[in-house]
Amino acid sequence: MSQSNIAMIGLGVMGKSLALNLIDHGFDVSGFDVNPVHRDKAIAEAALVSQKDHKGRFIALTSLSDLLASLETPRVIALSVPAGEIVDNVIDDLLNAGLAKQDIVIDTGNSLWTDSERREQQYQGKLRFFSTAVSGGEVGARTGPSLMASGEQSAWQYIKPMWLAIAAKVDSNGLAVGPFESGEACAAYLGPAGAGHYVKMVHNGIEYADMQLICEAYHFMAQALRLSAAEIGQIFGQWNQGVLNSYLMEISAEILQTSDPITNKPLVEVVLDKAGQKGTGLWTAVNALQAGVPAPTIAQAVFARAQSGQKALRLQAEQQLNTPLKQVNFSDVDAILIQLHDALFCAKVTAYAQGFDLLKTTSCTERWALDYANIAKIWRAGCIIRAHFLQDITKAYQNDPELDNLLLAQDFATQIEAKSSGWRSTVANAAMSGVPMPAISSALSYFDSLRSGVLPANLLQAQRDYFGAHGYSRLDDAESNRYHLTWSDNEKRQILQ
Ligand code: 6PG
Repeated sequence: MSQSNIAMIGLGVMGKSLALNLIDHGFDVSGFDVNPVHRDKAIAEAALVSQKDHKGRFIALTSLSDLLASLETPRVIALSVPAGEIVDNVIDDLLNAGLAKQDIVIDTGNSLWTDSERREQQYQGKLRFFSTAVSGGEVGARTGPSLMASGEQSAWQYIKPMWLAIAAKVDSNGLAVGPFESGEACAAYLGPAGAGHYVKMVHNGIEYADMQLICEAYHFMAQALRLSAAEIGQIFGQWNQGVLNSYLMEISAEILQTSDPITNKPLVEVVLDKAGQKGTGLWTAVNALQAGVPAPTIAQAVFARAQSGQKALRLQAEQQLNTPLKQVNFSDVDAILIQLHDALFCAKVTAYAQGFDLLKTTSCTERWALDYANIAKIWRAGCIIRAHFLQDITKAYQNDPELDNLLLAQDFATQIEAKSSGWRSTVANAAMSGVPMPAISSALSYFDSLRSGVLPANLLQAQRDYFGAHGYSRLDDAESNRYHLTWSDNEKRQILQ
């Protein structure tokens, strides 16, 4: 029997789907999972794929040494195991089973990017460590995910043909095509090992923001405009035909038009309003805070999930904090909806701008030289934030690879100028009617801060100097010259620090 092209360790939902996708594209796969249920399921499903023409074959092994023996060299071993210590344990087991230093281990899980950086260092000379962040969930992994690859560059030539084959594809207009049609693959080599997982982390931060923005639009329509879930679903369906076209908008339209099979009510009305999270959005927000990059809309999306979790407190406060609201006239619903549509678009572009600012900052500090146009390209299909406007983001970074902020790209600046009055009216309407809009309004504040040549940090610096002698720079002198005022003296003096 010929040797397999790749091994997949971990045959749970994602690992099995990636393995089936590889077989579908003609690659031979060796599988391993300590759980016999996962193993048997993978064997059964792979058999159905392999029986067709031009498909790869799948074998499942029960020991790591047999798994290694089943592979062509250099061996390529993909891990689809939970992030954290398990990744290190499996790699150590592989080393004990006879992994050679030319062999390639690819972590396809949602690992913390700094762990990937550490692993690349740690395993140098023992194996070629590589990472590939996968977006698209189960269906994406099975039929075409977005693949953010990074790690030892010498390994990429062995992995590239497989990743390009199984990734989602787009046509020349940036529109998704079928898994076996020709097109540009949503897979790319992005840099050293931490880069792929970092880019995926930021993808997830944007995903959190995008989801929250859509949820706020839904909530406003339901609470302030008193539209039914089905009506909102239809409006989202229409919006999905235009500039707001995205996978998340598409599924939101479908979800809102789905009934609960038990009560026949709209499904969303029986789902408990407490958001879960696995942590990648939190990682992005923490990273933004640590790096000093303003990403308030992403952070706000994480906080919004946290506040949703305080259900009992919210129910109590609903009774107690019944502040009187000025009646807002929403008689022209169509006009209000156009404003809301525009607000959603502007806030969404702003959330992406914050995500790309994070990418740019960390690319500089880590010296990754990330290619932002390429990142936007591989997000055009397969991943959860796939959206038609990623084609426009691609163009913006192709026109100016060093763009300081996405909101400054001429195309987006023009669109936001046209839509910003709807954005402002929406935030005002939400505030007046008491419907929370944390992410849409935080995006507006970010936008306004960005376009403010002057911010009140002058007063803030003076406050810091007043109580802590932290010093300030002057507008009329070099920034490097720092001064302190003798605040407690009757006759105040300024001292050069
Ligand atoms: C993807 C998703 C995927 C997953 C996240 C979201 O790109 O395929 O982002 O990684 O859905 O884990 O998780 P939480 O919302 O639970 O944090």
